[in-house]
Amino acid sequence: MGSLFRGLGFMSTAHGDIKRVTTHTLQSMKQHGEKISMLTAYDFSMARIFDDAGIDVILVGDSASNVMAGHETTLPITLDQMIYHAQSVVRACQRCLVIVDLPFGSYQGNSKEALISSIRIMKEAGAHGIKLEGGAEVSESIKRIVGAGVPVMGHLGLTPQSIYKFGTYTVRAKEEEEAEILLQNAHILEEAGCFSLVLEKIPAALGTEVARQLKIPIIGIGAGGGVDGQVLVMHDMLGITKNFSPRFLRRYLNLYEEISDATKKYIKDIKDKDFPNEKEQY
Ligand code: KIV
Repeated sequence: MGSLFRGLGFMSTAHGDIKRVTTHTLQSMKQHGEKISMLTAYDFSMARIFDDAGIDVILVGDSASNVMAGHETTLPITLDQMIYHAQSVVRACQRCLVIVDLPFGSYQGNSKEALISSIRIMKEAGAHGIKLEGGAEVSESIKRIVGAGVPVMGHLGLTPQSIYKFGTYTVRAKEEEEAEILLQNAHILEEAGCFSLVLEKIPAALGTEVARQLKIPIIGIGAGGGVDGQVLVMHDMLGITKNFSPRFLRRYLNLYEEISDATKKYIKDIKDKDFPNEKEQY
């Protein structure tokens, strides 16, 4: 029985069989009112900690372009670079669902390009699904990717890959007309086959309304508490980033200070000839 079901959601480990989170798990969580937890990760070590801690979904976000590579926007990161990050994360995860962002320029051309990029992510990284930004304009691509058996997560509201079109990172869809368009796009994405949707930086009331109208789970980042789950960028949640304090961010650690203090102590110990001591050498 074990071997028959191993490929269908169970993984044997030293701790027994772990049941994998799937897109169906998320759907069932929405139906039962259980909130979904999601964090970004980009490397093996952090993904292993998050997975062991019980996170439901890890997003290998194109925010890697900012927090890992130091770019000002998400635009420069390439498909090959996303695959490298995704491979490291997938190797770490035994339980959670791993979703990978299609980076800017890897899907906007046409639905064939979108499909080829998605297949590369699934085959080369072993991811469980992809995420892409946009509404009606990407619906043909979503249908084609889903048609090939690849789960797709949509992303509406603040879509950082379009930052040069919008010009600012301010709250989206505050006006009724824009809110109505967002709601329409959310329905279009659901009908195109998305299994879930990220809503970024929109009024809480609109987030709640999208979650109420759609059957698929809605994951928010700055979209209020009425959606079906929450996602944060790990560097923000852990306090590694310093100069980024939007209202929606809750910091659970202040790692910048802690790592900085540890580094200063390490430097001092070396300079003082305190490290290594007698017990720390052969
Ligand atoms: O790239 C990313 O980290 C994201 C989240 C902000 C949802 O898309």
